[in-house]
Amino acid sequence: MKMIKKIAALKKEIKALRQKHKTIGFVPTMGALHAGHVKLIRCARKQNSIVIVSIFVNPAQFGPAEDFKKYPRTLLNDAAVCRKEGVDIIFSPSVAQMYPSVRGTYVTVEGLSNVLCGAGRPGHFRGVATVVTKLMNIVEPDTMYLGQKDAQQAAVVKRMARDLFISGKIRVIPTVRQKNGLALSSRNAYLSEKEKNDAASLYQSLMLAQKLVKSGLNDAGLIIRRMKGLLAKFKSVKIDYVSVLDAQTFIPLKKAKRGCLVALAARVGKTRLIDNIVIPKSSL
Ligand code: PAJ
Repeated sequence: MKMIKKIAALKKEIKALRQKHKTIGFVPTMGALHAGHVKLIRCARKQNSIVIVSIFVNPAQFGPAEDFKKYPRTLLNDAAVCRKEGVDIIFSPSVAQMYPSVRGTYVTVEGLSNVLCGAGRPGHFRGVATVVTKLMNIVEPDTMYLGQKDAQQAAVVKRMARDLFISGKIRVIPTVRQKNGLALSSRNAYLSEKEKNDAASLYQSLMLAQKLVKSGLNDAGLIIRRMKGLLAKFKSVKIDYVSVLDAQTFIPLKKAKRGCLVALAARVGKTRLIDNIVIPKSSL
């Protein structure tokens, strides 16, 4: 496994791999790797001859009051995880490498970026779309792997790639969860044991929505109220949003329907967590 920090060095490596007709699977991350990231890496490993993982805590996607400084940075451990999973190259550039200009160039995906998480985190998806554009231009992967856990991010990135004619497939991989349902996230490291237990209520509320839809209820307003009622029982949980949406357009729905997305964000203690499910088509 190679650890590469410089863009020029990575491009040179990739050019040589392309000459040997290797296929490249790419997993962009901010590190602090967990079993969710590992699932993406394993999919990439199965489907490509070369796997590249980027580890870059991207300042452009953090708001001024957010956790950029304290975001977990565990490069040595991440490298061990990648080695074990058969990753070929880790790309871990510096901020100066990725953002060479003082007043730089940014990519904005209109509309999709301003709802849900975008409403509470202005500029967040501009930062994500910008860094993923840069990374895709550097790596030019055959396939890039993203997690369903960040459903809005995946939708923003897909839209960006389509609108900017960036080639390469984008595959979205189901969310990996703890036994109690809590979606794995690098930010779970901030949670106390009590908060980890309370945070499982996020998944419980999503399961409640699924159960209600299965039982024939489709009034989205009522489903959201029932979910909020469940979450309100947990003192440490403060809801940011709960929404029933069209999974492709992210337009809120009045009536829940097959394949719709139920998404939420909440603060558990001081930590902001997100989660979502797509209501299975066969459950109705
Ligand atoms: P990060 O939070 O490190 O996540 C990297 C990838 O892992 C994302 O595609 C995310 O959706 C996926 N992932 C996270 N938790 C997961 C889980 N429990 N199950 C399955 N997949 C999961 O998302 C980012 O980094 C950044 O925004 C990035 C795309 C790298 C741009 O900076």
